[in-house]
Amino acid sequence: MKVTVVGAGNVGATCAQRIAECSIADVYLVDVVEGLAAGKALDLAEAAPVVDHGSRIEGGTGYAPAEGSDVVVITAGIARKPGMSRDDLLATNGKIATQVVENVMKYAPDAILLMVANPLDVTTYIAQQVSGHPRERVFGMAGVLDTARFRAFIAMELGCAPGDVTAMVLGGHGDSMVPLPRHSTVSGIPITELIPADRIEAIVDRTRKGGAEIVGLLKTGSAFYAPSAAVTQMVASILRDEKRILPTCVQLTGEYGLDDVFVGVPAKLGSSGVEEVIELDLNDEEMAALHSSADAVRETVAAWKGMNA
Ligand code: APR
Repeated sequence: MKVTVVGAGNVGATCAQRIAECSIADVYLVDVVEGLAAGKALDLAEAAPVVDHGSRIEGGTGYAPAEGSDVVVITAGIARKPGMSRDDLLATNGKIATQVVENVMKYAPDAILLMVANPLDVTTYIAQQVSGHPRERVFGMAGVLDTARFRAFIAMELGCAPGDVTAMVLGGHGDSMVPLPRHSTVSGIPITELIPADRIEAIVDRTRKGGAEIVGLLKTGSAFYAPSAAVTQMVASILRDEKRILPTCVQLTGEYGLDDVFVGVPAKLGSSGVEEVIELDLNDEEMAALHSSADAVRETVAAWKGMNA
């Protein structure tokens, strides 16, 4: 198995490390900056004897070594800097996503594309447009990260094992995301029976602002340990055909009453990529929140189309 990771920054390099150390696949790391991917790949390869894994890791600036990849993870992009508008970020990262997917298609046209760069729902849309892949083979990572944050905060609140907490977050990756307390449990017990409503509200709010909280602490740069863990779980489910049901940014074709929009919903991930989109039974309030989140994604896609008209 082979995974190409595009972007050898914090998220990309940590994805390469986790994928290699779990012996899921060989990894090719690529970055536009001369020496960056090659240097990090060599450093990771030199750790292999100590960590004791057998994955091959190489890095470079070209795309030819991506040939034969089963999955391509795309983290290339810039982080939003102070004073930068969302549209500025969209313009830059949208162009980078376009260029990267064009390059990937030359050498790995059959690879499943897993988008990570923000604004996630739009870079995933762009990847689908540029690659022409069906929705099964082009999707994005955001929900596993948002859900991981929600689960971590629930575990902190209750002082319980994070692994015992299951949770679900739907919608776009941003302020409009839709955490679902009703579908979140600790060892099968709904959190609504364990945590008072006002505390759940506070946890939901912290989840929505999870990315900004990390940026505020780090000052320079954004989260990468939890994002790379989330990517690795999705990649493992695909390459090992685990068929895990994970929140995934995927194009909807009528599910949840939504059509032709990329938003986070639970999906079964196996060797063919997205093998099934799961439709949860949402109440009116949850459905309205999901539709309003989808509207926010549509607006950003419209802004991108406007920039390229
Ligand atoms: N081709 C390849 N690599 C590129 C390109 C390009 N056209 N443009 C930028 N890059 C590389 C940069 O050189 C840099 O090494 O992408 C990398 C991004 O790394 P960081 O700046 O460290 O950003 P990171 O924290 O990894 O986040 C990457 O993931 O979670 C999202 O919001 C985050 O959009 C951001 C992305």
